[in-house]
Amino acid sequence: MDKLIIEGGKQLKGEVKIAGAKNAALPLMAACVLAPGETTLRNVPDLADVNTMGRVLENLGLRIGHDGDVMALDATTITSDTAPYELVKTMRASFYALGALVGRLGRAKVSLPGGCAWGPRPVDIHLKGLEALGVKIELEGGYILADGRKMRGARFVLEFPSVGASVNLMLAAAAAKGETILENVAREPEVTALTLMMIAMGVPIEGTGTTTLRIEGGHSLNPVDMRVIPDRIEAGTYLAAAGLAGGDVTLVDVNPEHLSIIIAKSREAGLKITEAKNRIRIQSSGHLKPVDIQTEVFPGFATDMQAQWIALMTGANGSSLIEDTIYNDRFTHVPELIRLGAHIVMRDNVAQVTGPVRLEGAPVMSTDLRASASLVIAGLAARGKTEISRIYHLDRGYERLEEKLSALGARVRRETA
Ligand code: EPU
Repeated sequence: MDKLIIEGGKQLKGEVKIAGAKNAALPLMAACVLAPGETTLRNVPDLADVNTMGRVLENLGLRIGHDGDVMALDATTITSDTAPYELVKTMRASFYALGALVGRLGRAKVSLPGGCAWGPRPVDIHLKGLEALGVKIELEGGYILADGRKMRGARFVLEFPSVGASVNLMLAAAAAKGETILENVAREPEVTALTLMMIAMGVPIEGTGTTTLRIEGGHSLNPVDMRVIPDRIEAGTYLAAAGLAGGDVTLVDVNPEHLSIIIAKSREAGLKITEAKNRIRIQSSGHLKPVDIQTEVFPGFATDMQAQWIALMTGANGSSLIEDTIYNDRFTHVPELIRLGAHIVMRDNVAQVTGPVRLEGAPVMSTDLRASASLVIAGLAARGKTEISRIYHLDRGYERLEEKLSALGARVRRETA
């Protein structure tokens, strides 16, 4: 298994191009299933999770070609209605095959995703929503069998604005004759990106970017040409890295509007941030102030930035409280950060970080994607050598991480075992 070796203590300087968003590319890829013909997606990041989604779709009969960051997905013929356990267990977003297949074929057999490193992560809202649309759901041998022959437009209120449930219900609603009204839908930019793609495909949708979507289903759909929005979490990760290590870094190809709360909190923490249309410049002296955060659904502070914020706060002069209200248990990075010298005390879903500490390099272990990102941030600022093992987690969501960091002046290399 590959390791990342970081010799920390160097300031970061220069420009870094932010890739297309993993969490937008995945639902956009799934949406290709809805329309016969070839859809083109641009700015697709080169990531393990994108490859996994590609395998899920190829298994359904799609033909997929790549040319750099351009992906062509031909959904002319669908040959299978099944997303197998072997693929779904490696990536929860494979569960988007459920809505996509119901939307295209009116039926699906999709493995239940199961839990993950930080808790059960249920899919009850996805299933209740499909049932509200008239889809018959059965569980057999760990698989969801969905029968959408009697599907029709309906009103459904999501009890929580789940990103995944919003995506699955939108995909299925495309085929439900009549009007579907989804209330309390997620407003994450990645969900809005899907709404815009579905409108371009020929689904009349009102309410883009709001919590209520009115979807007119049952139209025949056409393939489209779409650009994946920039990855706000990759951007936030580089922002936090520059903040803790110190330096002057410009993020290129970003949408600052998607990062407004992170930018506001970073300014409170003492970073100098300059925004332009597609760019964000971060200047950091490395002297930081403590800033509390609480994760919320968009436009609140993203849970996917919680781990990186904890790493940043190890350098702040005083105590900060970081609370995750979306995932109570998403703190597997904390014991690893403590191994690097961080002072963190956990109380339920709140981490109290006290700084500033001078982090010292040590061997640590990746436990999930964003936890790993926080270890990279800490390792870049730490004195000496940090060895991060199990970095396949990082490869799920960060494109060419060591290359991008090296270009900013960091001493980072991958060791292939
Ligand atoms: N929830 C339910 N029932 C459901 C669905 C969700 O109770 O049927 C709960 C979850 O347990 C959780 C909350 O709702 O407490 C939020 O879950 P959500 O469904 O919104 O998350 P997701 O769709 O599974 C996506 C991202 C995650 C990100 C979350 C929250 C993708 C592929 N994944 O997951 O991204 O943390 O939204 O913003 O878009 C990551 O990129 O590292 C990552 C984990």
